[in-house]
Amino acid sequence: MNVDGKHFRTIWVKEGEKSTIQIIDQQKLPHKFEAVDLKTVKDFSAAIKDMYVRGAGLIGATAGYGMYIAALTAPDGGFDSYLKESAEILKATRPTASNLAWAVNRQLKAIDGGSTVSEKIVIAYQTACDIADEDAEFCRRLGEHGKSIIEEISKHKNGEPVNILTHCNAGWLAFVDYGSATAPIYAAHDAGIKVHVWVDETRPRNQGASLTAWELGKHGVDHHLIVDNAGGHLMQHGMVDMVIVGTDRTTRQGDVANKIGTYLKALAAKDNGVPFYVALPSSTFDFKMRDGVKEIPIEERDAREVRYMVGKTDDGSIEEVLLCPEITDAKNYGFDVTPARLVTKLICERGICDASEEGIMDLFPEGTNT
Ligand code: MRU
Repeated sequence: MNVDGKHFRTIWVKEGEKSTIQIIDQQKLPHKFEAVDLKTVKDFSAAIKDMYVRGAGLIGATAGYGMYIAALTAPDGGFDSYLKESAEILKATRPTASNLAWAVNRQLKAIDGGSTVSEKIVIAYQTACDIADEDAEFCRRLGEHGKSIIEEISKHKNGEPVNILTHCNAGWLAFVDYGSATAPIYAAHDAGIKVHVWVDETRPRNQGASLTAWELGKHGVDHHLIVDNAGGHLMQHGMVDMVIVGTDRTTRQGDVANKIGTYLKALAAKDNGVPFYVALPSSTFDFKMRDGVKEIPIEERDAREVRYMVGKTDDGSIEEVLLCPEITDAKNYGFDVTPARLVTKLICERGICDASEEGIMDLFPEGTNT
């Protein structure tokens, strides 16, 4: 997507330097837009773990390039073991987004098809680029499918904007380009359909406030930032026409893991008759899991993220402040699971389907994404 008139993806190969991958440092947004170089497997695992990059699709694409760098930097005579070890290091960085293991396994399988080390490196490079390109293309396509839903709602709005609530950041920053939840929004906006987005701030890391608000603003999409607890109130007062969120892992029966707080939005949407859509490229399906509440691993992050808040002061410096008493500890669950029964439809690159095994299998009869 565009940043001040220039097209960016969230990850790319450095121009003229095939051994360096560059990413946008999302820790610094919205106050600074900076690219960072990744050159070693250690750089990649730190970038994912410390959330320089985040969001299901981008975590997958980063892991894909990380495996290419592993192939490129493997020691003489120890290629296979280094690759295996790197795969485990990358997979261990974050547990919830299924795109991570999906991308690493796709790389391992592809690389295995090469017969010499140099052939394997070429395959790893091509596979990493394919994963990134596919992610962007699938998001673009699901955006077109989702646009039709927004278009339909707009017909009943008498020229008023369609009010869309979203949680966290399932925007282009969470993928390689376009985003999942935001792709239908951008497609509708670009087609001249009036939209307005309610952006949940998304405590504790505030991906809504710092990332979604930033990208919508850069694309000229009308939006307001709201506190996480405002959604129910807005829905009760007819101020939300639809909810669109992303997902970090969606099971075979349509249960959806997404950023903590998503489940509460889905409950409020159900109670108020507001349609609740989940947008995802097929790389986010986990076809091996069924019961999301029981089976999806939920990441627990550092309590510091809850106890402290980072922001820009009036004099322009970035500071971190403590929110609670010094002695108060916190628990930091990163995700929750919204059961399929609360999801109106899933929006995927192949079309729109029910959040049920039948609906998903209709679109993806192969029942696998590997
Ligand atoms: O912890 P994050 O920022 O990596 O969480 C991912 C998310 O931004 C959300 O859960 C998002 O809605 C789905 S990822 C496309």
